[in-house]
Amino acid sequence: MERSPEGEIEVVGGCLRYIHDANWKILLENVSDNLHSMVTHQSVYQAARMAWRGLGDGPAPMAITMLEPFGGGYEFFDQIGHTVCGNGHTYSGGNVSIHSAYPEIPAYLRAMELRYGADETRRILAVQRHNTIIYPSMTFKCALQSIRVYRPLAVDRTLQETWTFRLKGAPEEMLERAAFYNHLIFSPASIAGNDDWEAYHRIQQGLVSQGSDWVSQHRYLAGPGANDDGTVSGLGTSDMVFRHEFETWRKFMAAGESPT
Ligand SMILES: [Fe+2]
Repeated sequence: MERSPEGEIEVVGGCLRYIHDANWKILLENVSDNLHSMVTHQSVYQAARMAWRGLGDGPAPMAITMLEPFGGGYEFFDQIGHTVCGNGHTYSGGNVSIHSAYPEIPAYLRAMELRYGADETRRILAVQRHNTIIYPSMTFKCALQSIRVYRPLAVDRTLQETWTFRLKGAPEEMLERAAFYNHLIFSPASIAGNDDWEAYHRIQQGLVSQGSDWVSQHRYLAGPGANDDGTVSGLGTSDMVFRHEFETWRKFMAAGESPT
């Protein structure tokens, strides 16, 4: 809300709606999975680099600026970080995210400074979140003004809806950038989103095959640090968020049951 010069947001435009043949928890995990990007989206990153080289000198087009961080290494994605807030709620990103290198939009900065002053504007925009999860079914991408909602339809079928929101009082350029990103990454024609959707399908098939008894979620098992406000932070490629989501799911599913 505070990224809006008027302190309010509103959903605008249409909805990108897609049904995936996978359990909802697989989709939610993907939102926090920083580790997958450099592998799952490697072909996208490489295609973007080749396309840019073919364009000659000059500043990178926005699509390239948006796709390039997908190919970042372990160090970059670890730096993004994770924070667990309890009851399944989490966010990735803090001081840096895959959206940090986007060029500033001067008219937006002016509108923010008019409302909040220069110091407060700097404080607000220094928060670089990647994704925020309101467990179990909603995620926000604040820097790119999108909301994703996950609706389980069956154990192996999930509806995903992506909405774009406007920062009231911000120049239209902010909304155009958000809509562009959402189509680039989340639309059925996306060159990046389809990588994930194929992965959901294959993970679901792998899980029902009974070929393996366990799924490992032990990456960076030790090491998360407790913050003063009660949240817990760790490295961006840690599995800590997945462990927390499953602990929460077990807690909610067992609520009301007598302990055995
Ligand atoms: Fe992905």
